[in-house]
Amino acid sequence: MPKLKLITYGCQANELDSERIAGLLAQEGYELIEREEEADLILLNTCAIREKAEQKVYSRLGTFQLLKRRKKGLRIGICGCVAQQEGQALLNRFPYLDFVVGPGQLTSIPKLLDTPAKRGIATARAPGFSYPSIAPVQRRSGIKAWVSIMEGCDRFCTFCVVPFTRGRERSRPSQDIIEEIRNLERQGYREVTLLGQTVNSYGKKLRPPTSFVELLRKIDHIVDGAVRVRFTSPHPANVTEELAEAIAGLPSLCEHIHLPVQSGSDEILRRMKRGYGRDEYLEKVALLRAKAPGLAISTDIIVGFPGETEEDFQDTLGLMRTVGYDGAFMFKYSPRPHTPALEMSAQVPEEIKGRRLEQALALLNQLSLERNRAYLGRTVEVLVDREDAKGDHARLAGRTRQNKIVHFFGGGVVDGDLVSVEICGASPLHLQGELVSSQASARRGKGFDNPAAPIYDSPNRRGEG
Ligand code: SAH
Ligand code: SF4
Ligand code: F3S
Repeated sequence: MPKLKLITYGCQANELDSERIAGLLAQEGYELIEREEEADLILLNTCAIREKAEQKVYSRLGTFQLLKRRKKGLRIGICGCVAQQEGQALLNRFPYLDFVVGPGQLTSIPKLLDTPAKRGIATARAPGFSYPSIAPVQRRSGIKAWVSIMEGCDRFCTFCVVPFTRGRERSRPSQDIIEEIRNLERQGYREVTLLGQTVNSYGKKLRPPTSFVELLRKIDHIVDGAVRVRFTSPHPANVTEELAEAIAGLPSLCEHIHLPVQSGSDEILRRMKRGYGRDEYLEKVALLRAKAPGLAISTDIIVGFPGETEEDFQDTLGLMRTVGYDGAFMFKYSPRPHTPALEMSAQVPEEIKGRRLEQALALLNQLSLERNRAYLGRTVEVLVDREDAKGDHARLAGRTRQNKIVHFFGGGVVDGDLVSVEICGASPLHLQGELVSSQASARRGKGFDNPAAPIYDSPNRRGEG
């Protein structure tokens, strides 16, 4: 049996692509292995979102040069967003690289493997949704599954490579999505996360058009409370009252939204071409909180975008306080090929970006600690998954519906169980608790960990500093 070492960088879309590659190549007889020294095929599924992500790929690739010389017949391929962005340049730059495959062309991998003498490239754009079900997805987890519902992006934010690497927005027919989720439920999966770059603009281009909320309702209907449903990442401009009501009302839908803001300054948002201003974003947050008071909100933030003044940055900190984020991914702006921001004047020096990032991280720690402390003494529903213990496997771990990681001690439970845990400790990144019952209370789903006293009243009403 030929052996495949698969290395994945980047976002959930890439993780899912890797699971698809694993499934596709399993059909060709490949077995997934850990140790690259034993591999017959090494695939790097790559990310181009920031320069650092891209550099990581090159340094890892460099370590395979010797291996390739030593082992006759070893093939090395690059897939994913760096493959799409760099294309032929990769083959020119790395003589020991065998092939390059863009994210819309993963099904070409077997063909490329069939011609060992030739170096190959497949980076043509996929016109439609790129994944007819050609092979079963070989998922890493038996509990949580990623489900792609749309691909690509039409928004062209001025800092972002995604529209160039993943192409234009296209949605997957809803019958296919429903079918996949029905199967996942039958196989015993307990959580699905719907994926798309702007996931809530789903369905616009389908014939007949359908909406994201319609899809959520259908999914909620078929999983009938047995599966938790999440989605990522929604775009703030497409957050509607209907969506807020769906989050509040559909039992399967978890009370967490990851709503990337990027900046709290109107001028920077305009230069980013994000398609909303500060007030509009805050209105969406207010709408969500009004309908679904138990909602946890996380975000993405970029510091040091070209032209960002100290005042702009203070606006971002102020917005973070106003929202009171539960969590955030924060990045220093990284200039990317093909993007308009690369050419913008007033690029911010590295050391200022570094200082702003530290400041923003310090504030985030404070805010998320406050949010987490609000759970002290409460009993929450946890989906047990030791993956969340991050290496400490003696401990049980899992996530609440608000996507909070909970570490707890207790016996008689296994991964995939829904249990009740009483929270007795809080830190910025997770909660600690004690097992109350190895079965989640009958009051599962809505209302279960949203007791009458709303927890969102107190924190972060500090106004903007
Ligand atoms: N589609 C998602 C974002 C996908 S990229 C959305 O629009 O919300 C994930 C995150 O990477 C972005 O939200 C942004 O915060 C960050 N990012 C993207 N391009 C970047 C760049 N050039 N420099 C720094 N961070 C970047
Ligand atoms: Fe990139 Fe903007 Fe599209 Fe998100 S919405 S993928 S940040 S272009
Ligand atoms: Fe990276 Fe491509 Fe995802 S650039 S973040 S792997 S869409």
